[in-house]
Amino acid sequence: MDLSTTYLGFDLPHPLMAGAGPLADDLDTVRRLEDAGSAAIVMRSLFEEQLTGEQLATHAYLEEPSDSFAEALSYLPSPEAFALGPEEYLEQLQRIKAAVGVPLVASLNGTTRGGWLEFARLLEQAGADGLELNVYQLATDPERSAEDLEDETLAMVRAIKESIHVPVAIKLSPFYTSLAHFARRLDEAKADGLVVFNRFYQADIDVEELAVERVLHLSDSSELLLRLRWLAILSGQVRASLAVSGGVHTPGDVVKAVMSGAHAVQVVSALLRHGPEHLMTLRRQVAEWMEEHGYDSLAQMRGSMSLARCPDPSAYERANYMQILQSWQGYL
Ligand SMILES: Cc1cc2nc3c(=O)[nH]c(=O)nc-3n(C[C@H](O)[C@H](O)[C@H](O)COP(=O)(O)O)c2cc1C
Repeated sequence: MDLSTTYLGFDLPHPLMAGAGPLADDLDTVRRLEDAGSAAIVMRSLFEEQLTGEQLATHAYLEEPSDSFAEALSYLPSPEAFALGPEEYLEQLQRIKAAVGVPLVASLNGTTRGGWLEFARLLEQAGADGLELNVYQLATDPERSAEDLEDETLAMVRAIKESIHVPVAIKLSPFYTSLAHFARRLDEAKADGLVVFNRFYQADIDVEELAVERVLHLSDSSELLLRLRWLAILSGQVRASLAVSGGVHTPGDVVKAVMSGAHAVQVVSALLRHGPEHLMTLRRQVAEWMEEHGYDSLAQMRGSMSLARCPDPSAYERANYMQILQSWQGYL
C-alpha cells in the first residue's frame, strides 16, 4: 500500500508523525518514535517569553511592584518552569539530529514580531529541517482589530521566511473571522505549511478557592471534527501543505483527516496515552482499511471529502447547519 505523502517539501513514506510536545524531550523516546516509523518529529515549542526573558527580568528589576507591567510579569512562568531553556533546546535539537534520521521540526511560539525571531536562524544552524511557528494567542485587547492581529502574524512569518531557508509551517488556532482568507494571506507570505489547529487549554474556576484551575486534559476523537471541517475548506485553496493536529486517535481518524485534505497527521495525546509504538499500529491499520476499501494509495484518498469542488462552500456549510437543527427528534 502506497501511503507516501509530501509535507513541507519532505517526501515522507506516510503522513503519521509525533506532533509538538514533550515526546522529543527524551532521547530514548525519540528513538522509539523513529523505530515506530514516525515520518518526522516535531519538538516542543520555545516561547517568545523565554527568548525575551532577559529583557523582561531587567524591566522587572527596574519597575516598582505596583506597576502594571511588573504585575503582568507575575503571570509568566519562571524560567525554571519551562522544560527546556533556549540553550538546552539547541543542545537537544543537535542530540536528536545525531540520533535519528527523520526530518526534525523545531517549534517557536510567539505573537509579536521582534528580535526573538532571530532564534529561528540558530535553530536552522543547529540542524532543524523545518520550523513550526505556533501563533497561540487570545485576542483580548478591544483596541486591536482582527486585521491588526493578522498583520502582526504575517509580519512574523515574513521575517522568519527572510531569515531561514528550511520550510516553515504555521500552527493556527480556529479563532479567525475569516480563516480561509487569512490562510490565503499566509500562502502569499510564503508559509510552507499550515497546522490545523492549536488546542486551547481552557482554564476552569475553583469556586471554593476562588482560583483559576489549569488542568491539561488529553484530547479525544471528538476534537477532530472542527479540524476536518477546516481541512475540507482549506484543501485545494492554498499552496501550503496541510497538517492536522488535534483529536487523531484511531485509524478512522487518520482516514478522515486525509480525506479532508491533510498531507500530514500529527499525533500527541494518543502517543502520550499508548506510547510511541501506537504510531506503528495506526499506520498498519490505515493500510489495512485502505486495502479493504479498494484504495491503492493515500494520494487517491487525499481531499476526496474536501469542499474544493463545491462552488459555494459557505452555502454547503449553512445547509448542513440548517438540516442538523431541523432533524432533532428528541423530547420537547
Ligand atoms: C503535554 C503537551 C505539551 C504540548 N506542548 C506543545 C508545544 O510545546 N508546542 C505546541 O505547538 N503544541 C504543544 N502541544 C499541543 C500538541 O502539539 C497538539 O497540538 C495538541 O495536543 C492536539 O493534538 P492531540 O489531540 O494529538 O493531542 C502540547 C500538547 C501536550 C498534550
